[in-house]
Amino acid sequence: MFRAVLTSRLQAAFTAAGIELPAGFTPNVVIASDTRYGDYQSNAAMVLAKQLKANPRALAQQIVDKLDVTDLCEKTSIDGPGFLNFTLSAAALAQRLAVIVSDDKVGVPAVAQPKTIVVDFSAPNIAKPMHVGHIRSTFIGDSLARVARFIGHKVITDNHVGDWGTQFGMIIHGWKTQLDQAKLKADPIHELVSVYKAVNAATKADESVLETCKAELVKLQQGDAENLGIWKECVRLTLEQLEKVYSTLDIKFDHYLGESFYNDALAPLVAEMLTQGIATISEGATVVFSDGSVKPENDPFLIKEKDEWKAAPCIIRKGDGGFLYATTDLATIDYRVKEWKADEIWYVVGAPQQLHFRQVFAAAQRRGVTTKMTHIAFGSILGPDGKMFKTRSGETVGLLEVIDEAIERARAAADEKEQGFTTEEKDEIARIIGSGAVKYAELSQNRLTDYKFSWDKMLSLQGNTAPYLLNAYVRTRSIFRKLDGAVTLTADLAITEPAERALAMKLAQFAENAHDILDDHRPNLLANYLYELADTYHSFYEACHVLRAEGTARNTRLTLCEATSRVLKTGLGLLGIQTTERM
Ligand code: ARG
Repeated sequence: MFRAVLTSRLQAAFTAAGIELPAGFTPNVVIASDTRYGDYQSNAAMVLAKQLKANPRALAQQIVDKLDVTDLCEKTSIDGPGFLNFTLSAAALAQRLAVIVSDDKVGVPAVAQPKTIVVDFSAPNIAKPMHVGHIRSTFIGDSLARVARFIGHKVITDNHVGDWGTQFGMIIHGWKTQLDQAKLKADPIHELVSVYKAVNAATKADESVLETCKAELVKLQQGDAENLGIWKECVRLTLEQLEKVYSTLDIKFDHYLGESFYNDALAPLVAEMLTQGIATISEGATVVFSDGSVKPENDPFLIKEKDEWKAAPCIIRKGDGGFLYATTDLATIDYRVKEWKADEIWYVVGAPQQLHFRQVFAAAQRRGVTTKMTHIAFGSILGPDGKMFKTRSGETVGLLEVIDEAIERARAAADEKEQGFTTEEKDEIARIIGSGAVKYAELSQNRLTDYKFSWDKMLSLQGNTAPYLLNAYVRTRSIFRKLDGAVTLTADLAITEPAERALAMKLAQFAENAHDILDDHRPNLLANYLYELADTYHSFYEACHVLRAEGTARNTRLTLCEATSRVLKTGLGLLGIQTTERM
């Protein structure tokens, strides 16, 4: 907020000083890293002086002479080679504080141009083991969708479930020959996955099993009633169980348009791409080749082999008539553009699918799609030993297992402390802390780097963890509980102590932070901000008496507590983490 206002004031000052700004130049204002000189800083004069071959300090002076920021700043200075430094006034900070405690968006402004954004995330595959990639996708996607919606975009979340594919040949064969109905009832996803694994292993040992599976798949694709029935049941059972997990996690989707939803669109799409000349038949398959419009380095349809560029086409129909993952994705794009008028589509999918998306986006663009499509990639989760993350029994870990175990561990911790909670209260607190801890461990990481999964670290009350942040929130609430409703905050605010000022400053920065997250789709910026806020709050709490203060000081400090409480709750909410009043 302050940053945006200071930026526009600077722009106005440039104009008033008769300095013409080069095209595309916006004065850059950042939060000062060294607060001795001010709260915000700009290098605009220095950057511009270089371009105009002028003296940076003299140019800075020209701007300052025309700068009108008296309503915001108590001091503006030119420091070093020509930095502009701004120190906010106590009155401006108090004004922000008043907004934070009264506005339902805690003072975060809405975007100037709201867009329709489709967020494609989670997207597990039916009857195939969920992998850790789905954990990351689920949490990152949910958080980004929440942030985008919060700042005013129209967001459509779509779970593009892998509900159609070659795995169903094996599943149907397994269903008919070795399904355990009791186990299916108890834990459908687990039973379907183990049937899939058993049949998969059998196909490797016995060629004829593979043939049977292929025949089952063909029957399914041709609409055989029995096989379609089994397929539908698999999808239904899986989605039912998934929805329970999503509800535990407080995650909702606007749509569940899985791959099968696009089945009928695939043949016409391929035919159209052939007539458009975008696709060609090659060795019996229908493929998209490079059109030579970009440099080979940037061309997703080329691959370098032994210093030579070779064709790496995107296959959209196999020689046997089967369609592929890419074909479905192209049909999905058409649907999202036509039906939902998407301005942007975000794909929150692991880094290994980078080539797939580069090819699909390029092919869609050749079809005339102008919607902005972004692959929001992420790295892997590693076990504590730095190798592939495994469960206690040595299986690869899926979303369900992780969440269950986190909640179980949080519940055990809650049982240790005797705080007079009822069983239901303990269950709810354990759910919030357990799922919050896993989410935060994920979202506080740079999404592109691999990270090590550590139960002890993520559930610890100390350090950069969800329990630490939740605890800070609980502390803010306990103050108001002590007052038992006997307090009305007023506009009588005076920020005088350094610890009060530091906290007010941190709180004001939330408005900027919420927007910055989407620049490069990084929820970790928000997580880290909240951690700093909690820290700043603890320092304030140690330095300033709240309940023992009187008059304006008391009202100001209570307002700071209330603002911290609201920003923590809102910020954690944007990470998909719920809060609890007590823990
Ligand atoms: N089901 C896919 C997988 O598990 C992810 C789908 C991502 N979304 C998409 N539109 N391709 O790898």
